[in-house]
Amino acid sequence: MIQFRQVTVNYGYVPGALKDINLQMHDGDFTLILGPTGSGKSTLLRLIYMDILPSSGVVTVDKWSSFRISPRQINRLRRNIGVVFQDFKLIDNMSVFDNVALPLVIEGYRRKYIRKLVHVLLDEVNLLQSKDQRASTLSLGEKQRVAIARAMAKNPFVVIADEPTGNLDREASKNVLSLLERINRNGTSVIMATHDYELIKETPYKRIYMENGEVLPGDRTINIPNKRINILANKE
Ligand SMILES: Nc1ncnc2c1ncn2[C@@H]1O[C@H](COP(=O)(O)OP(=O)(O)OP(=O)(O)O)[C@@H](O)[C@H]1O
Ligand SMILES: [Mg+2]
Repeated sequence: MIQFRQVTVNYGYVPGALKDINLQMHDGDFTLILGPTGSGKSTLLRLIYMDILPSSGVVTVDKWSSFRISPRQINRLRRNIGVVFQDFKLIDNMSVFDNVALPLVIEGYRRKYIRKLVHVLLDEVNLLQSKDQRASTLSLGEKQRVAIARAMAKNPFVVIADEPTGNLDREASKNVLSLLERINRNGTSVIMATHDYELIKETPYKRIYMENGEVLPGDRTINIPNKRINILANKE
């Protein structure tokens, strides 16, 4: 479970990137974080993988709490979280295979195990045929699928995706969404921040709407009427 209790984030002297956030996400949920640019979506996600810690309040992620967490514990927490970004963050001059293998190599897994697992992961994102290609030669949609395979390498309990379709066309976006859906059906929680209301409008997932560092009331309900989505979409 992920829990935010009275969480506020100030970046330096700029107050109120997040203001008094209270929320819960349960294991196995697919949660969408929606809201206009600057509303605090990435800040909320960064708190979950403890890239930043709250200025006040407490974030609890599984058995870890932001209250007095040590750097070593943060590393352990991150081993259990897969993160996917808008700009993929692949190592361009490395092969597809090596990009996915890297987190496993760092952890010191045996080569034979790594080879087997990376094959399974690449097969799952439908890129086994590209395993020896340099990452730089892939299409943007393919790059994001490699990033997702890499995020899954350590069998995380949650995948956090910050605008994963932000650089992708419609077809590739749908592809990435269905991949995340499949990951979620297999039991991994998924938390996805997105601007792309069109892409997610027919999905039944929990929605958290943010504005000005606050969660709008009516969050965590399923199937909020489309009217609400349209209001937010028109603001963009
Ligand atoms: N590193 C930082 N230093 C100072 N202010 C920041 C920093 N990161 C974010 N902010 C500010 O915090 C607020 C929330 O930013 P955040 O990146 O969480 O929004 P977002 O909803 O993810 O936006 P976008 O849709 O553009 O990605 C914004 O006002 C932003 O300018
Ligand atoms: Mg953001």
